[in-house]
Amino acid sequence: MSRVAYVNGRYLPLNDAKISVEDRGYQFADGVYEVCEVRGGCLVDERRHMARLDRSLGELNIARPISPAALAVVLRETIRRNRVRDGIVYVQVTRGVARRDFPFPSVETRPSLVVTARSNDIERLQQIATEGITVITVPDIRWKRVDIKSVALLPNVLAKQSARERGAREAWLVDAHGRVTEGASSNAWIVSREGRLITHPVGHEILSGITRSVVIDAIKAQGLSFEERSFAVDEAYAAREAFITSASQTVLPVISINGRPIGNGSPGWIATGLRRDYHRYAEISE
Ligand code: PDD
Repeated sequence: MSRVAYVNGRYLPLNDAKISVEDRGYQFADGVYEVCEVRGGCLVDERRHMARLDRSLGELNIARPISPAALAVVLRETIRRNRVRDGIVYVQVTRGVARRDFPFPSVETRPSLVVTARSNDIERLQQIATEGITVITVPDIRWKRVDIKSVALLPNVLAKQSARERGAREAWLVDAHGRVTEGASSNAWIVSREGRLITHPVGHEILSGITRSVVIDAIKAQGLSFEERSFAVDEAYAAREAFITSASQTVLPVISINGRPIGNGSPGWIATGLRRDYHRYAEISE
């Protein structure tokens, strides 16, 4: 089946879905995006993802391309036309098309909106979760506002490529103080020797992950011990468990970091339980 993309008001076959070479997303990475999980044809955590999209747009002073109600329809229609039951829907908004010039273009410039959807092999993903993933660390060389979900992802691309070359699925980004901020496309977590769940606090240094926030709800509801603070790579090596969270993968246990086994080198029970229970705490909308 051929895939379909929504581009500024039209649903087009992917091959015909095009954006101008003068789109500011293409020229300056002047745009933001969201990735929302689709499960059983339903959207997962749509409300929180759309709230974060609004926040990212607001931080960069990009206007909403269409109303939230219209966007909700476009998301569903894009999922339907691509026949996605389990996968993701991707939303990108840029400042629009204008003659290449650094300052913002005139206020009449309309933001560009693109929505795509694709299926994921959830059985394969579950197999990966059952085996656990490996992680490497790289220096966090990103700009100082990574709380904005901007399409400027070059450092993340390079980090992921390093991971790929070293046979790992994810790269954890390490700040100037030797502390893990987050993953190249996920939030990073450890379970300490004492059994406390630890993840970097929200602020300008990490993306405030939606999956992260749902996992925090689950942790609190289950009465698990939780601490929002940064942790050093050495602390991660000594952790009982480690895992990552992101919309497209929910919770994935980490079994080694830079080749050092975490805990007994197999997925921990806390990460495994959070993965199993995730959708009980998430908001599912048709
Ligand atoms: N990535 N940190 C970074 C740098 C991310 O790119 C992501 C998500 C997350 C997790 O956020 P959330 O739980 O809201 O998905 C954290 C998406 C999935 C992506 O770029 O594909």
